Amino acid sequence: MFREKNRHATAAMPHTAVPRDAPLAIDTANMYRPAGADGVDAADLAVLADPLARAHQALTERTRAGLESEYACLTLPAHMPAQLPQIWEAAQTIRRFRDVLVVGIGGSSLGAKALYRALKPVFPRPGDPSLHFIENIDPPYLDALLAHLAPETTAVVAISKSGGTIETVGQYLCLREWLEKHLGKARARQRQWLITDPAQGWMRALAAREDIPTLPVPPKVGGRYSVLTTVGLLPLAVAGIDVAALLRGAADNAARCAAADLEQNPALELAALYYLLDIRRGKRISIMMPYVNPLDLFGDWYCQLWAESLGKRREGAEPAGTLPVRALGTVDQHSQLQLYLESRRDKMFTFLTLRHGERGRAVPLPEADRAAFPYLEHRSLGEVLHAEFLATRDVITRAGHPNLTIGLPALDAHVLGQLIDLYQRVTVYAGLLYGVNPLDQPAVEAGKKLAVQYLSERVGGR
Ligand code: PA5
Repeated sequence: MFREKNRHATAAMPHTAVPRDAPLAIDTANMYRPAGADGVDAADLAVLADPLARAHQALTERTRAGLESEYACLTLPAHMPAQLPQIWEAAQTIRRFRDVLVVGIGGSSLGAKALYRALKPVFPRPGDPSLHFIENIDPPYLDALLAHLAPETTAVVAISKSGGTIETVGQYLCLREWLEKHLGKARARQRQWLITDPAQGWMRALAAREDIPTLPVPPKVGGRYSVLTTVGLLPLAVAGIDVAALLRGAADNAARCAAADLEQNPALELAALYYLLDIRRGKRISIMMPYVNPLDLFGDWYCQLWAESLGKRREGAEPAGTLPVRALGTVDQHSQLQLYLESRRDKMFTFLTLRHGERGRAVPLPEADRAAFPYLEHRSLGEVLHAEFLATRDVITRAGHPNLTIGLPALDAHVLGQLIDLYQRVTVYAGLLYGVNPLDQPAVEAGKKLAVQYLSERVGGR
């Protein structure tokens, strides 16, 4: 089983040589009894044998038609490479601008934002534009940003699958007006790109009417599953990130998750564990805790994927879904850990670590301070981080809370492609186990409609 096979891989101290193209090391030992006292056991898994077989069968059938499939999002690693030349061509043009405003919300922002944060160099390389994600409405921020930017050297990429999300449309229109005011209509148009549905929606109609360059989102791929489409790939390519490697990583993970057997298919195993810990052990809260600082926004992407896909009503059964929570090691040891350890036993944990972590600089301990911190002598900052991770995982395990660790062989596009594909698959399998549609979001749609109604009432003079 994964739980045994990979155990040694993440328990080792970092800095041991791990090939950069190695697969994710998934250590699930602490999700099972006896290591995780509240974990699952063989009897739980036995009950799930048939549902797991059905879930895998359904996923196989519903991806067979490629981009036309119901779960087209899981076929992107195979189909998006063909669109890379078009994406690179647009990216080359956009890269000539110094600043790029990426406007979108939810699934049309979170994936690219998380990967940009994880993979961009700490300071931009010469020639790389700076990306600014305009997601939430924040009028003072937008004003301050526009006061600081030069329209001449700024491009706008607006992203909306539906082509009509009000936050995105409103902010995009403000940015257009700002460009047009300073540069005139024609030059403003040379600084705009749209990413939207190939056939429908306001944005698509606008693109046709005004001849604005536009890239399509595959029609069957919804927002939170779209980071491996033009939605994520174009902004990331603009930033100079290796999007071909991202897709290769996703394809490698897809191949790794092809088997029907949970012992051979990590996505199936993780879905089974997260599901069983909810319905059989009452673990209603699922905490994603990277010990890799640049992955701090990965938790935002994961939380949306998990919450919007699985938090659903069920006919004649308890509602589905666990509450995803993002945390960051070591910061949240000094914030949330007390509650994790001693409050209700309703939590499970996923740790992300770097198997080949940067040692970083050694702590320069002055002679006079050796007595105060003897354990810091000859230790690097990377070793301090790893010791903190091991200690936190151990106290959580000793307290009986189930937890798993995903060891990343490196922090690069190939590895993050694996991680994205893994969690998209886990989410779809989990949806099938809960018996909900992991692709829709009826409650979100209701909120969008109501906001439009309230705005219409104000226009009506109230
Ligand atoms: O996952 C989803 O479907 C949502 O979060 C959408 O991405 C979000 O509401 C934005 O929608 P759109 O891309 O249509 O503007």
